[in-house]
Amino acid sequence: MAAATLTEEPTNARVLVVGSGGREHALAAAIAASPKVAHVAFAGGPNAGLETIAEAIDPATVEDAATGFDLIVIGPEAPLADGLADRLCAKGLAVFGPSKAAAELEASKSFTKELCTRIGVPTAKARICDELADALAAVDRMGAPLVVKADGLAAGKGVVVAETIEEARRAVKECFDGTFGAAGARVVLEERLEGPEVSLFALSDGKTVRALATARDYKRAFDGNRGPNTGGMGAISPAPDFDDAACEAAMETIVRPTLRALADDGIAYVGVLYAGLMLTKDGPKLIEYNVRFGDPECQVILPRLAGDAYSLLYATATGNLADAAIDNRGTAVGVVVAAEGYPGPVRRDEEIGGLDAVAAAGATVYHAGTRPDGDRVLSNGGRVLTVVATGADADAARGAAYGALTHLAWPGGRHRSDIGS
Ligand code: AMP
Ligand code: GLY
Repeated sequence: MAAATLTEEPTNARVLVVGSGGREHALAAAIAASPKVAHVAFAGGPNAGLETIAEAIDPATVEDAATGFDLIVIGPEAPLADGLADRLCAKGLAVFGPSKAAAELEASKSFTKELCTRIGVPTAKARICDELADALAAVDRMGAPLVVKADGLAAGKGVVVAETIEEARRAVKECFDGTFGAAGARVVLEERLEGPEVSLFALSDGKTVRALATARDYKRAFDGNRGPNTGGMGAISPAPDFDDAACEAAMETIVRPTLRALADDGIAYVGVLYAGLMLTKDGPKLIEYNVRFGDPECQVILPRLAGDAYSLLYATATGNLADAAIDNRGTAVGVVVAAEGYPGPVRRDEEIGGLDAVAAAGATVYHAGTRPDGDRVLSNGGRVLTVVATGADADAARGAAYGALTHLAWPGGRHRSDIGS
């Protein structure tokens, strides 16, 4: 599927963002800030922040409603893997987000592993197994430490970095037990790589592939990278210790060859590609691809963008990325505020105060799990807010974000105190 051939950028534009988390609040806010945009809507909800800047649309009606919009930006992976972009493109709409075939890069780890191995993209050595007995035998052969991955989409929970053979065997059995549903019917076993992780975000319009930004997210629940894995407790952009030259090198050895190989198979990639990299002693290696913005990485990437976010997304959706402006300024730090207990069960419906004071102190608050209740904002999920501040460097951005956070009045909220340090 090629990018839409719409080229004339609409003004007084109507833009629909699919999804309703912190990532989509950041997307909607950046789009709404464009003087060329007259109306923004989002599909999903509730979200007390998004609802103040965008019209809420019932996700069940999104395919019909989309025809009334000049640009549709798809936030999460699930609708992409389900082919929403294909169906909207077939109606002649401008869509930011890859086709179902291209979304295989995230939806199937074995697809990506086979592709990257075939074309020589640096990545962990791996074995793909469809049978329990075969996988257990492979675990014994490969030895520990070993990384066990359910093949399909598992909401970020399908990866176990096993220190021992016993742990790896247990993880393999869980995959085939149905813990991850259809996602676990195939497992990918791979060598453990070591080094700092970096997220590289690239834009592709189906012809041109350009780096957008880098970021680092903080996956563990507690300070010092301890505790269980989460969807992400904070992020910084740009990623420290990964300069423009390193970024461009990874674009050349990893991202561009991957998208060229897809194109050779007739699959044009349109949207943002998120490459999770590990900076090993042998150079950067691919850990995984996601076919969307990260959450909370999106919340620290977009505030750094100096130009018009709507124009950039529109150009990407319509095959005009080569001439678009990409100009990032300063450093942004985003701290996720989660409900006590996250990533386990949490209490909901707690009143969140001080939001205006946080904003007055110079930070931007993106909402994820919140809902409005009259004039009040109530908690409504695990990850509830991302508080973002920008500055000339990491120290300035971190100081501004944590300084603003002191104004938040929500006793049940928890956040890490070491994001960006
Ligand atoms: P994912 O859910 O695919 O984002 O993977 C979660 C995390 O598992 C990654 O961010 C890495 O920290 C870790 N991981 C995945 N693959 C490997 C690997 N081959 N070696 C070491 N760590 C890995
Ligand atoms: N923050 C990690 C992700 O969005 O996948």
